[in-house]
Amino acid sequence: MNVAPTLVAARTSLPPKGARLVGGDPALRPLGLFISFEGIDGAGKSTHISGLADAFKAVGRTVTLTREPGGTALAEKLRAMVLNDVMDSLTESLLIFAARRDHLTTVILPALTRGDVVLCDRFTDATFAYQGGGRGFDVNVLKTLEAWVQGTDGENLMQPDLTVWFDLNPIEAAKRLAGARVPDKFEAQPVEFFSRVAKGYADRQHAEPGRFARINAAQSREVVWLDVLSVVSGKGWL
Ligand code: TMP
Repeated sequence: MNVAPTLVAARTSLPPKGARLVGGDPALRPLGLFISFEGIDGAGKSTHISGLADAFKAVGRTVTLTREPGGTALAEKLRAMVLNDVMDSLTESLLIFAARRDHLTTVILPALTRGDVVLCDRFTDATFAYQGGGRGFDVNVLKTLEAWVQGTDGENLMQPDLTVWFDLNPIEAAKRLAGARVPDKFEAQPVEFFSRVAKGYADRQHAEPGRFARINAAQSREVVWLDVLSVVSGKGWL
């Protein structure tokens, strides 16, 4: 298995039996890699996520390809509600974090413990961007929910090792989305909503620059792919 030496050093100890599953302490983190992909609707993440899955498989890694909200039977039911039903922002946030908790404990953490590469189409940054930025919901409430769902040991939260952010101007994204498919509740939002979502992503990147890789998604698909590949290779993971 082609695992970067730094990761091996940081992750040789698996969580002891009976230890709390969710925690960000690097010494307790399992051996796998956790990469999330973010961006406003229409930014064009999907083809690159599957391309990256193929690239990891080609070097012998086992890949768990998943998404949020969703990734488990329960979380997919919650996803259908979140994407289609009208609700207030707190209800929406609670359902998204409930889905995330189920996904994290039953799919993501077991996969990381096995040593898989987990490629997750959206994770918590999307909640800060869409519910916090787009909807204007209280970010402090989101931080509390994030700590409940992703952290049990104080300051350390379970977060992706890398977040690839496909940054695209909302007007360009709207053009790409137009007529592509029947829009869900979020895709049907106006450009101003997506400008706030984009600002939400920028704020998260600003708070955690080391975790984020910003990709200029306005470039051609080929150039975006080369950028994605270069970020991941630059980490020594491919
Ligand atoms: P997808 O179309 O990329 O699968 O994402 C589903 C939609 O759900 C997308 O419009 C973004 C939205 N979403 C949130 O509003 N909050 C979240 O926390 C997540 C993960 C997604």
